[in-house]
Amino acid sequence: MSPRRLRLAVLASGRGTNLQALLDAGQDPDYPAEVALVLSDRADAPALRRAREAGAEAEWIDPAPGGLFERIGGRIEGAGAGLVCCAGFMRILPPEFVRRFAGRILNIHPSLLPSFPGLHAQRKAVRAGVRVAGCTVHFIDEGVDTGPVVLQAAVPVLPGDDEEALSGRILRYEHRIYPLAVRLIAEGRVRLEGRKVLIEGTGGEGQGFISPPLAGLPGGGEGR
Ligand code: GAR
Repeated sequence: MSPRRLRLAVLASGRGTNLQALLDAGQDPDYPAEVALVLSDRADAPALRRAREAGAEAEWIDPAPGGLFERIGGRIEGAGAGLVCCAGFMRILPPEFVRRFAGRILNIHPSLLPSFPGLHAQRKAVRAGVRVAGCTVHFIDEGVDTGPVVLQAAVPVLPGDDEEALSGRILRYEHRIYPLAVRLIAEGRVRLEGRKVLIEGTGGEGQGFISPPLAGLPGGGEGR
């Protein structure tokens, strides 16, 4: 672990593919952040196995005895993490915890917020019949999926899509925007002004919007 890199604490409850994207990004010595600690509220979460395989510290925090978020906060601070990344962490964070890490805690959500907050965002998008879905990296505030938006990627909803197909397409972009958002923060290029996130160097991806090629559509680009 290099002292000049931003240390990340990742909270994950499940399969951990977004965690994997962050672990993979950290393999590049030029990437300015590294996963220092992974915490899960589920002992059997594949995310814990992924972390251990990558050589990161990983720990199950038993939710049963109470004081879960006190203990999580203590572990994060003990690990010297400068940024907390929720990656499929399926618990609502209590306000005291959010205040403790204000401006230093991110989430990834599989919709273009503020559309479709909460659970099953991709299913809601399919049922609503929207043409454009996507994903969002945002700072966490005291609401559910309401915090300031750092980056978003738009993902087309194609005819015949079901929840699974759309989820898979969105996920590929989650894996791009999460490491990118962390990089921008670690490089000191992200500033919070009220509800707005300002990103220095506004060329291309610096604008916070990643528009994918629209594979298979008239006038669309290459598929991914
Ligand atoms: C991801 O799609 C993430 O956006 C979503 O859970 C999945 C976790 O997958 N999060 C939410 O819905 C939060 N409301 P992963 O464990 O493979 O990263």
